[in-house]
Amino acid sequence: MIENKVVLITGVSSGIGRETAQLLAERGARLFGTVRDLGRADPIARVELVLMDVTDDKSVKDGAESVLENAGKIDILVNNAGYSIAGALEETSIEEAHRLFETNFFGVLRLTQAVLPSMRRHGYGRIVNISSMLGVLPGPYRGMYVASKHALEGYTKTLDHEVRAFGIRATLVEPVYTKTKITTNEKTVQTAIPAYADQKQRVMEIIEKETANGDDPNTVAEVVWDAVTAKSPRLHYPVGEGVMLSRLHRFVPARMFDKQFRKRFQLDGAAQAEMAKL
Ligand SMILES: NC(=O)c1ccc[n+]([C@@H]2O[C@H](COP(=O)([O-])OP(=O)(O)OC[C@H]3O[C@@H](n4cnc5c(N)ncnc54)[C@H](OP(=O)(O)O)[C@@H]3O)[C@@H](O)[C@H]2O)c1
Repeated sequence: MIENKVVLITGVSSGIGRETAQLLAERGARLFGTVRDLGRADPIARVELVLMDVTDDKSVKDGAESVLENAGKIDILVNNAGYSIAGALEETSIEEAHRLFETNFFGVLRLTQAVLPSMRRHGYGRIVNISSMLGVLPGPYRGMYVASKHALEGYTKTLDHEVRAFGIRATLVEPVYTKTKITTNEKTVQTAIPAYADQKQRVMEIIEKETANGDDPNTVAEVVWDAVTAKSPRLHYPVGEGVMLSRLHRFVPARMFDKQFRKRFQLDGAAQAEMAKL
């Protein structure tokens, strides 16, 4: 099924992208994976590395063209490259928000637009966008990351309708906490507003613990495999605990979900403590 397929995955230097490239290549796909620094990239068996920074128009165009010249087509595109930024929304500068969206959102647009003409010509394509459960749920102190993934969800939902007539499907894979370099690579906002400090610290500690106990990236790779090999793919592929979370979010009354969510992240106690200081 995957044997004659040409796959392009962004961000294969580590984490989910790397595991997915390994898994799809092992199972027979012709695999191209992008990295930002060819000199520092560890090779992956049966994966051809391509230089690409998804924030750079020319780099994306050149990278996509080199794969198309080499393989003649791209059947499957996995938009995986991304990073997170920690900080309260009020603390996040416009510049920091722009930079994040350049990778997590506009990077996906750039590469998808570069690949779609070939997919349309061949009458076939699968586009898998690595979103997050934070593309569906709120995420205190990761708000700009949440906004970028929510934007990606809206984009993908609509894209799927526009391209379906050409034999192309767009889907969303939504991991929860996954043990990758995402926390090491996470940026922190430059501004710190003291009023948020206690609550932010508490939420950060909860997130650190959850990430340490998170899924193995191979779990996500298996879900990407399901998405790219499904004859009729679903729009949403939540991963691991995300399956339960997304059901709760859909079926539990909003007020009840809100209450449980605030409890999980200890938001009310912290807010009350702040109010008491005023
Ligand atoms: N880990 C989680 O808990 C989790 C949960 C939900 C969703 N996700 C999503 O999963 C995806 C992969 O993240 P990960 O967890 O595997 O983190 P990771 O280990 O930090 O990997 C991120 C990858 O993205 C690449 N990248 C970053 N900026 C780039 C750019 N401008 N151009 C090209 N490549 C770029 C990195 O390459 P360099 O080595 O060059 O930096 C790296 O290969 C992201 O979209 C993330 O939002 C992760």
